[in-house]
Amino acid sequence: MTPLVECVGLTRHFPIRSGVFGRTAGVVHAVDDVSFHADRGETYSLVGESGCGKTTTGRMVIRLEKPTSGAMRLDGEDVSNLTGKALSAFRRRVQAVFQDPFSSLNPRMTVGSIVEEGMLVHGIGHSPSERRERAKEILALTGMSPDSLDRFPHEFSGGQRQRVGLARALSTGPDFIVADEAVSALDVSIQAQIINLLAELREKLGLGYLFIAHDLAVVKHLSDRVGVMYLGHLMEEAPAADLFREPLHPYTKALLSAIPEPDPAKRGKKRIILSGDVPRSDRPPAGCRFHTRCPEATDRCREGDIPESHPAVGRRVRCLLYE
Ligand SMILES: Nc1ncnc2c1ncn2[C@@H]1O[C@H](COP(=O)(O)OP(=O)(O)O)[C@@H](O)[C@H]1O
Ligand SMILES: [Mg+2]
Repeated sequence: MTPLVECVGLTRHFPIRSGVFGRTAGVVHAVDDVSFHADRGETYSLVGESGCGKTTTGRMVIRLEKPTSGAMRLDGEDVSNLTGKALSAFRRRVQAVFQDPFSSLNPRMTVGSIVEEGMLVHGIGHSPSERRERAKEILALTGMSPDSLDRFPHEFSGGQRQRVGLARALSTGPDFIVADEAVSALDVSIQAQIINLLAELREKLGLGYLFIAHDLAVVKHLSDRVGVMYLGHLMEEAPAADLFREPLHPYTKALLSAIPEPDPAKRGKKRIILSGDVPRSDRPPAGCRFHTRCPEATDRCREGDIPESHPAVGRRVRCLLYE
């Protein structure tokens, strides 16, 4: 079956220009050869430390950024070269929610007009009153009361603003939403509410998500499958339950060991402290990109391409331990 969203060998390099002539002084390897898919009604999460390429991947999925190479497909169709009506139809189906609802919501627009804007752009609804009615219904879906329609973003809390951001994304009736650090700026209890809301909307509307977070703990309850990124590479992918029960890649193990365990009976696993900093992404290490910090690295990890292995059904890992 054709997946709803499929990325194949997605790559994005940014040239670094310097000097008055703007000569290319290097290349940032933001995303390198990343492949994954998400089906209808499924949540695929991307995790990894800041700077590993998650946002750039998300921006290629919503086509705000064009890949240097590789493809992003919706229902099997490559979207890289869409223009005009076809691009507009794509934008209607694939929407985004961003981290900071403060800066992503226009402070001078009412909540109602923020939600109605997408409908206007895409010609949804025949009259202002119809759009207003629809905005009210969508806001209700995200847990906002009808009187929020005529109020401004600054009158609401961070969690409520994120509900408005979600309502704006839903206004075009999308199939797929990219949520980039959509809960990262919120308090833990509010994070849980928004995650529950995302899960509820997924069931009600059959939505698929690309859920991006630097914090593994945040993705645990929402994800069907998880991809772990490091320095532009996808290091491991697994069904969420498998990844949390038995992480394979040493990098995933380190990320997981950093999550605080609330249940004292389950504590005792040693925290893996990674030494050194994340290398610069304009000079990624040869071999496995993680080898400079990996507690299990051997000489073979320092050179050549590291092939992807399939150690179990539905699992992929880029690590010589699983050759
Ligand atoms: N427009 C850009 N120009 C140059 N470098 C960029 C640009 N966008 C992102 N980068 C670089 O690409 C890498 C990945 O960034 P990003 O995708 O934002 O990672 P993440 O979201 O995981 O923190 C970083 O090294 C970042 O500095
Ligand atoms: Mg980011």
